[in-house]
Amino acid sequence: MKIAPSILSADFGRLSEDIEAVVEGGADWIHVDVMDGHFVPNITIGPLTVEAARRSTDLPLDVHLMIENPDRYLEDFVGAGADVVTVHQEACPHLHRTLQKIRELGAKAGVAVNPATSLETVRDVLHDLDLLLVMSVNPGFGGQSYIEASTDKLARARVMLDAIESDAELEVDGGATASNVASIVGAGATVVVAGSAVYRHPDGAASGVRAIRSAAGV
Ligand code: DX5
Ligand code: ZN
Repeated sequence: MKIAPSILSADFGRLSEDIEAVVEGGADWIHVDVMDGHFVPNITIGPLTVEAARRSTDLPLDVHLMIENPDRYLEDFVGAGADVVTVHQEACPHLHRTLQKIRELGAKAGVAVNPATSLETVRDVLHDLDLLLVMSVNPGFGGQSYIEASTDKLARARVMLDAIESDAELEVDGGATASNVASIVGAGATVVVAGSAVYRHPDGAASGVRAIRSAAGV
């Protein structure tokens, strides 16, 4: 199981220190939440922050594009250092072509589905994916509560990926904590995003990462 702390919950006044803290705690990836204020109600960060994160760590940068028309920005984000670029099914009228473009640019291609979006909408691109992201909150903000129905959705996504012997990562994003990570991993997630559970941990972000890994038991 990989842990991908989301820097959305980090202190942007000390971003490199907050990235170093989760690296020290044993994080596998760094999750970067990009929001445009259109696809989701919040505005966050863009390629400049991906470049800053790239300068701070060698860990894979897992860039989650919660933006309209992501095709316009794929080159910018891969050029800024993104290793994984995840687009939203709901924002991509030509999803197969978008995924192909991400791979052509040299990054791993991911697709995210919102809580109300059926997994059936991505069944026909499972072969074109390196990562399937199941949103377990409605996108836009950190610190929300995990939507319990996500665990069953993760299990169904696991069955879909296993049925085609896919080695794509199955990522869960939103509301993951030390209390629910065991059931999340038990449902078949291979990457767990955690923002507030890590950065709001009372003993610091490094302890936050360790607490999630020990609770996951893997
Ligand atoms: C929400 C983002 C998530 C969020 C996770 O739109 O995609 O990555 O930052 O933060 P927590 O773990 O606090 O829910
Ligand atoms: Zn995210």
